Amino acid sequence: MSTLTVHHIGYLVKKIEKAQKAFLSMGYTLEQDTVYDDIRKVHICFLIKDDYRVELVAPASDDSVVSGLMKRYKNSPYHICYETTDFEKDYATLTENGFLAIDTLTPAPALQNREVVFLSNASIGMIELIR
Ligand code: NI
Repeated sequence: MSTLTVHHIGYLVKKIEKAQKAFLSMGYTLEQDTVYDDIRKVHICFLIKDDYRVELVAPASDDSVVSGLMKRYKNSPYHICYETTDFEKDYATLTENGFLAIDTLTPAPALQNREVVFLSNASIGMIELIR
């Protein structure tokens, strides 16, 4: 059994203030205001509604980690992030089931520097896993 639980839905947006305003107008509350992730060169904030957490990610420069994704995912969801109580086991299970790591465990400034890794699956695309 996997111990995965959903932590957030990642939304790729072009302009984070305007996106934030749109979510606030729908009744979301700001959980964490925008921080700059200098490793990935993106701006990130978190919003909450009805136990759902949405992460807004906006490229801060042309060489950000998400700049290449902007054409396909601009202003739309692009990953679901999961927490796990047994990272090693769940990571192994995922890689045995067609998920391929597309980067390495790297601290995430927007998540109190907890380490995250992104994996990709041919049938469902990208997921994020928090250690
Ligand atoms: Ni995320």
